[in-house]
Amino acid sequence: MSDTPVTGSFRDRPVSFVRRSGRMSDAQDRAWAELSDRFLWAVPRGEAETSIEPGAVADLASVYGRAAPLIVEIGSGQGHAIIHAASSRPEVNFLAIEVFRAGLARTMLDADRAGVSNLRLAEANAPEVLQHLLPAASVDELWVFFPDPWHKKKHTKRRLIAPEFTSIARGALRPGGKLRLATDWEDYAKQMRTVLDQADGFSRDFDGEWAERFDGRVLTAFERKGSRVGRDIRDLTYVADSA
Ligand SMILES: C[S@@+](CC[C@H](N)C(=O)[O-])C[C@H]1O[C@@H](n2cnc3c(N)ncnc32)[C@H](O)[C@@H]1O
Repeated sequence: MSDTPVTGSFRDRPVSFVRRSGRMSDAQDRAWAELSDRFLWAVPRGEAETSIEPGAVADLASVYGRAAPLIVEIGSGQGHAIIHAASSRPEVNFLAIEVFRAGLARTMLDADRAGVSNLRLAEANAPEVLQHLLPAASVDELWVFFPDPWHKKKHTKRRLIAPEFTSIARGALRPGGKLRLATDWEDYAKQMRTVLDQADGFSRDFDGEWAERFDGRVLTAFERKGSRVGRDIRDLTYVADSA
């Protein structure tokens, strides 16, 4: 299996990631072997390695062992933001979607240490999870913090926040649900705002130019690095309109 395009799905356009080989440490290898049963969602695959089988809609109550509001983070990296959130909000179900295996292993290690039981991880291309695996209107909040900026002009077509993504995100969010975005890349921040302002089914949840910093977001290495080199951190929040 490889990450080659799948015809007739989101893979008709380039994916927003390049899979890092990212060698795993011994601790991460052990985490993968010992903690996957508890945290890693054995998602049904389509044709490509990180794909989801079209039509494989999940029963979330059986995945989490309970029905509860759902918060999904796309590109959870090392898992710092979602573990903090899952520990402080035990009444909510959390889903971390990431393609970087060493990051997922690190997330499982920290989730185990933090004793969280309301978190699952999906090793998959996020738009396919939203489109095929999660039931329509099942997500209360969707978080995308510091997505890869793809700053070279020839690569901007790889950016996740694009018109195709907004219709997939809108389908997964319940009416009234929120899409929270953050980036330290000004040009991408402006693209996000233009794309979401023009998207059907979303309205701004902020006044003025940008949203306030989301206080549920912990400082990650990406945000710290952006601030250190003098970049402004931009937050955006949109609400999914009622149908
Ligand atoms: C720049 S990092 C930011 C990580 C984290 N949000 C943070 O703030 O530390 C972006 C992450 O998004 C992941 N990613 C990019 N596109 C993705 C996709 N389509 N599905 C799942 N993960 C993706 C990458 O593997 C990478 O780990």
